[in-house]
Amino acid sequence: MLLFLDTANIEEIKEIATWGVLDGVTTNPSLVGKEGKEFKRLVKDICKIVSGPVSAEVVSTDTEAMIKEGRDIATWAENVVIKCPLTAPGLAATKALHRDGIKVNVTLCFSVNQAILAARAGATFVSPFVGRLDDINEDGMALVEQIVEVFHIHGLTTKVLAASIRTPLHVTRAALAGADIATIPYKVFKQLVSHPLTDKGLAAFLSDWDKASQSFAGSSAQTSNPRS
Ligand code: G3P
Repeated sequence: MLLFLDTANIEEIKEIATWGVLDGVTTNPSLVGKEGKEFKRLVKDICKIVSGPVSAEVVSTDTEAMIKEGRDIATWAENVVIKCPLTAPGLAATKALHRDGIKVNVTLCFSVNQAILAARAGATFVSPFVGRLDDINEDGMALVEQIVEVFHIHGLTTKVLAASIRTPLHVTRAALAGADIATIPYKVFKQLVSHPLTDKGLAAFLSDWDKASQSFAGSSAQTSNPRS
């Protein structure tokens, strides 16, 4: 499963990019709005930091305007992906942009039938929103599992991009569900690497090393101690 960061914050992207595990970035109008920066400049800056797919969402709502906007955004960087909402105009725009050879991430997906439509429209990615279904007492991850199964049965090549991820367990479950990608908020991404037993074990290793290194300090056989 590929790991995308769900943010438009440059500093968050730069930090996680240093880990060597960042495969892409997704943004949306709310995330972009939080940054208070000019959209085109921000997207181009993000696309310079991350070589993988960077999703930038259209804000038009009618087909022709979405197509026009998507074709413009597609010129901003080689790795930009156009996000269109899962609406009838959004599907029509996806079809047209796909025909242009432009990659589309169809977003705001909340049902298997919507995902099938996105795939048939030529979407490169479809984004089922897990957390927002959980919020209304539905099983968001079950939707991911069902989409993965249907796409496998019918040989649909659209990538399932699990979105609206709220917890580390969502990431685990998305991987178990067979999602191609999980797009993860910065706070959750940081939680993925942390475990109290890792911290405790490392502290114990280094403490034992430091005690032992005192005993062989000064011996002729001593090699340099990286911790001295
Ligand atoms: O990319 C979609 C994601 O940002 C939505 O997440 O937490 O606002 O449902 P959330």
